[in-house]
Parts: sequence; structure tokens; C-alpha cells
Amino acid sequence: MTAHTKAEIILEVKDVQLTYERPVLRDINFCIRNIVRPGFSQGQVVTLIGRSGIGKTQLFRIMSGLQTPTAGQVLIHGNQPVKAGDMGVIFQNYYLFEWRTVYQSLLLAAKKNKHLFGVEKQTIEQYAEQFQLSGHLHLYPQQLSGGQRQRVSIMQQLLKGSNFILLDEPFSGLDVCMLDKAVELILQVSLSDELKTLIIVSHDIETSVAISDTVFILGTEPGKAGATIKKEIDLIERDLAWQKGIKQEKRFLETIEEIKGCL
Ligand SMILES: Nc1ncnc2c1ncn2[C@@H]1O[C@H](COP(=O)(O)OP(=O)(O)OP(=O)(O)O)[C@@H](O)[C@H]1O
Ligand SMILES: [Mg+2]
Repeated sequence: MTAHTKAEIILEVKDVQLTYERPVLRDINFCIRNIVRPGFSQGQVVTLIGRSGIGKTQLFRIMSGLQTPTAGQVLIHGNQPVKAGDMGVIFQNYYLFEWRTVYQSLLLAAKKNKHLFGVEKQTIEQYAEQFQLSGHLHLYPQQLSGGQRQRVSIMQQLLKGSNFILLDEPFSGLDVCMLDKAVELILQVSLSDELKTLIIVSHDIETSVAISDTVFILGTEPGKAGATIKKEIDLIERDLAWQKGIKQEKRFLETIEEIKGCL
């Protein structure tokens, strides 16, 4: 197993329930710990898997403080209830302000981050270069490709400076080349800060599991209404985390089959 320690809890979901006309989520309890890897400044990448309609987006909304659960709470930064704006959320359709240029949107995000006071412009330019968007800063979102919109969306959340970034279906609608780029980008973000925590929801199980350290499976149990966390898989313990080319390994494929069997 790769050397690491699991340090303090950085996010805790406690007894979360969500009920509309019927229960959607019940007894959701899990936590994410700061994983410390000697010699690396590396954040956490967590994948949340579940069938369509099971409640992943609802759980995302609750985790990001955008929605209040029927019961329970989400705690971050050592026991503080999460509130809207604490987490960066990258929605499936890469929602951007259509009436602002890329630069204007990014500047708005950067101004929310007090650590960037006075260096907003330089930071945006630096990120744009890194994300291959230097030539696109003064365009409007409708003038961008899907992959470019995604990168702007990710940059926006990075500039805001939040340590938690939730990504809903970050790989959908990307061609093979762009998929590799998106994966690279996500890894790059996760390596940028030890406390940076990415939580991914994706139907592309192979791609998201290959870059994660932990998998949570959201599903239903016989005789009980509403979805809950059915299983947690520690990929570090299985020696499946942080390894290039892991997708081709037999033991990785076995874990994928195990996950599919739980859905
Ligand atoms: N405002 C609402 N009122 C009632 N039910 C809702 C509401 N919003 C969502 N739901 C229900 O909650 C359940 C979970 O929806 P959610 O969008 O979280 O699914 P999901 O797992 O993200 O699915 P997908 O993978 O297709 O995106 C669905 O059955 C949906 O009908
Ligand atoms: Mg969804």
C-alpha cells in the first residue's frame, strides 16, 4: 500500500435525510478525511456512484449548502455547518453567465477570494495559460466549445479559492482527447493543495474511479425507502489509487465489477 495517513475529518455528512412526497435520501453518514502522503502536497478525490435518479444531485446540493435537508447536517472546517458558497459546484451543463465575457466572469470569481486581493488579473492570466484559454478570455460563453466551457467553469471555482469542489458529470459529452484533458485537469487541481477535495459524480465509473482515492456507493436496500451509502471502498488500501495506467489492471477491473454489482 502507498504510504499515507488519514488525518483530520474535513467534511462530515451526519444523519442526512431528504424527503419530498417520498423519501429520497435516508441515514446518509460518511466523512472525508485529509489524506496525508509523505512527500506530496495532495488533496482528496472522492467518487460518488449510483444509478440514475437515485439522489446524487440532491446529495450534491445538500453538501454544497444549496439545499437544506429534511434532517441532518453537513459539517466542514472542523464542525461548521456548510452554507451556500462554501463549496465550488461545477454543474453538468457548465453553467456560465452568458452575458459576461469569460474574463468578466473570472474576475467576479477572483474578487470573492481575499487571498487574491490586488493580483486578480495576473492570477487569471496565469490560470488561463495553464488551462489553454489565454486566447479566449474576451469571448462570451456561447463562443466556446464544451471543453472550453468546462475549463472556464473549473477555473471559476478554483479562483474562488474554496477547498471543496463538487463536479456533477464532469466527463459527459467530452470526446476521447478532451476526456484525457479533463482527467489531467482534475488531477492537477487535486494536487494543488493538500486540503483541496474534489467530489465527483459520474456515470463513467472507470474514469472517475481511476482518479479517486475513495468511492461511495449510493443505493437502496431491500424493504427501506430512500437511498443511503451502501458501501465505501478505500482504493488506497486496495493499492488502486494514484497509479497511472491502473485502468488496464485486472484488480482494478474486478473492483469496477464489484461496484457495478452494488448498483
Ligand atoms: N423538487 C423535487 N421534488 C420532488 N422530487 C424531486 C425533486 N427534485 C428531485 N426529486 C427526485 O429526487 C430523486 C433524485 O434525483 P437526483 O436528481 O438527485 O438523481 P441523480 O442520482 O442525480 O440522477 P442522474 O444520475 O440521472 O442525474 C429523483 O427521483 C427525483 O425525481
Ligand atoms: Mg444527477
